[in-house]
Amino acid sequence: MKLWEGRFEKPSAKSLEEFNDSLPFDKELWQADIKGSLAHAEMLFNCGILSEADYTLIAKGLDEIARDITSGKLTVKGAEDIHSFIENELTVRVGEAGKKLHTARSRNDQVATDFRIYVLSAYKTLGEKLQGLIRALLVKAKEGLKLIMPGYTHLRKAQPMCAGHFFNAYSEMFLRDLERLAQSKKRASVCPLGSGALAGTSYPIDRFMTAEKLGFEKPCENSLDGVSDRDFAAEYLFDCSLIMAHLSRLCEDIILYSAEEFGYFEISDEYSTGSSIMPQKKNPDIPELIRGKTGRVYGHLMGILTTVKGIPLAYNKDLQEDKEGLFDAKKQTENCVFVMAELLLNISFKEENMFKAAGGDFCCATDVADYLAKKGVPFRTAHAVTGKIVRSCIEKNMTLQDMTAGDYKKFSEYFEDDIVEKVKAENCAAARTSYGGASPERVKENIKSIKKRLKKFN
Ligand code: ARG
Repeated sequence: MKLWEGRFEKPSAKSLEEFNDSLPFDKELWQADIKGSLAHAEMLFNCGILSEADYTLIAKGLDEIARDITSGKLTVKGAEDIHSFIENELTVRVGEAGKKLHTARSRNDQVATDFRIYVLSAYKTLGEKLQGLIRALLVKAKEGLKLIMPGYTHLRKAQPMCAGHFFNAYSEMFLRDLERLAQSKKRASVCPLGSGALAGTSYPIDRFMTAEKLGFEKPCENSLDGVSDRDFAAEYLFDCSLIMAHLSRLCEDIILYSAEEFGYFEISDEYSTGSSIMPQKKNPDIPELIRGKTGRVYGHLMGILTTVKGIPLAYNKDLQEDKEGLFDAKKQTENCVFVMAELLLNISFKEENMFKAAGGDFCCATDVADYLAKKGVPFRTAHAVTGKIVRSCIEKNMTLQDMTAGDYKKFSEYFEDDIVEKVKAENCAAARTSYGGASPERVKENIKSIKKRLKKFN
């Protein structure tokens, strides 16, 4: 039964129903819809708009519907949307009282409320998963405290660093994401219920009561905006997109560092895949898939932004297109965050390779220049002298660590015997003790601070 069929002489065309109906996907909102209806009915009763007898029947009916959907006894199908489905089902179960539930309400404020309830709970789940990911990164950062690896710029070896620094960098990104989720959630915590179709209602409703019962911070202050606003959906999708961007960067690093050419990380067999033709292959499908899904989540963000951009106030059916992308983005992002945490715990380090690479390819050249500059040579001059040393090493097929103190002294009178020690990769990393730097001591501090900031979200 349609909620609006009274005005129509003929039934809807089959093709219209197939095209128009949202039940196949908005059934995802069934719990939010029942929750919203229960709060609405209770408020109507409290405000004297619904009798106690009717309210009792409605509340009992809605509870039973929830129980039957959960147990599988009731299948959600055969209606235009989830709101119609539940209202129809209620009326079948409790009779006339069910027909009073929609008093002082429109599907426009109902769907806006349901969707917000859904998004608020999605924030909670995603936040919990992100916390798990940061905990996994902390495990790796701690393991990395003893290890040295090269840091890169332009994907060329740049400077040696304590390997924990790498994992902490990603923890910082995901901590920002966690904070962003909390801030976005707060902004989304505004209840549109009671906005009616667009202009509010003439019934003496209490919007503060429903807002509070549903766990919102407050009711929205403008009914026209209340039914039209989908900023909260766009913002959730943006938050997912940025999380995916961070995951995707981490994936790229993992893929590179586990490749033969780098050989720093080894992904366990359980988290790797093989090739149907090349027997030797061990492929990083998991991080590749997460990287791939990033595009899909961005797509959903573009989708919602484009959907809302041209529609006049207030509700238009275009807004029905706000849901499927978000449902998918939620599922994909949550999965990716969860899988990444598992993947990290299944990565081991090839310590020798990391260490060798950290000293190789003139990774310690900055430290040679700094050595001279600290002795009073202007940094630009020290840079030029070190550049000459590098060039000479390349010609002689030598590393900075192969050079003796005597070799160094030929390039500048400021070099002393200690340069040989200073130029070792572990010493270069250890020397980066500036606040936020890559020395093990600073990395340890960073781990402590990340743990402390993470605790705030529990
Ligand atoms: N299925 C609709 C949606 O998702 C519910 C709101 C319907 N409102 C309306 N005026 N047709 O947007």
